[in-house]
Amino acid sequence: MSTTRGAVIWMTGLSGAGKSTLADALHRRLKAAGHASIVLDGDVLRRGLTADLGFTPEDRAENLRRVAHVAALFMQQGFVAMAAVISPEHEHRRMAREIVGDGFVEVFVNAPLTVCEARDVKGLYARARRGEIPNFTGISGPYDVPLEPDLMIESDRVSIDEAVDRLLVHLVAMGCLTRESGLGRPRLAK
Ligand code: ADX
Repeated sequence: MSTTRGAVIWMTGLSGAGKSTLADALHRRLKAAGHASIVLDGDVLRRGLTADLGFTPEDRAENLRRVAHVAALFMQQGFVAMAAVISPEHEHRRMAREIVGDGFVEVFVNAPLTVCEARDVKGLYARARRGEIPNFTGISGPYDVPLEPDLMIESDRVSIDEAVDRLLVHLVAMGCLTRESGLGRPRLAK
């Protein structure tokens, strides 16, 4: 294992922006290179760990508090933990950063609402537009655009490979991964 220290990659963005896709792709690349990593996906966690919570501001804060603590535990064990969660409010991200401390990386997975809505992979935007889903982020609930994310990935403009490369470069710069650690991308050897 050549991960030298852990990190929390906190991916914030609208539903359908590509957070899970990016987290899964980064996870695959890290795994292939022998690095310990884990994906903490909001949709998945909400089936178990946070199944008791909904989408009111209070429930989201509690959801994200739990996710941040779990992510921090993994980070302390040397994992790169990717949290793929909308975390719509500045306050959510501030709280997560505070819980995690050093090693927290805020990544804004940025795709315009029109793009996310057009994709509508889960059909939720259409339902939200019909008024069937209260507090739906971007439609009937707020999304505070991150003001100073550590990284921004414009997921409608950048390929997944390119986005993963950028995340890996960031992890190397943080000292989480060594350049020689088998990530297998020439661009990391610069
Ligand atoms: S968060 O706001 O608390 O960070 P989280 O990432 O866990 O949200 O869950 C978001 C996922 O829940 C979405 O991808 C979507 O599939 C589903 N979902 C169901 N209801 C809502 C809603 N009202 N707003 C946003 N997402 C919702």
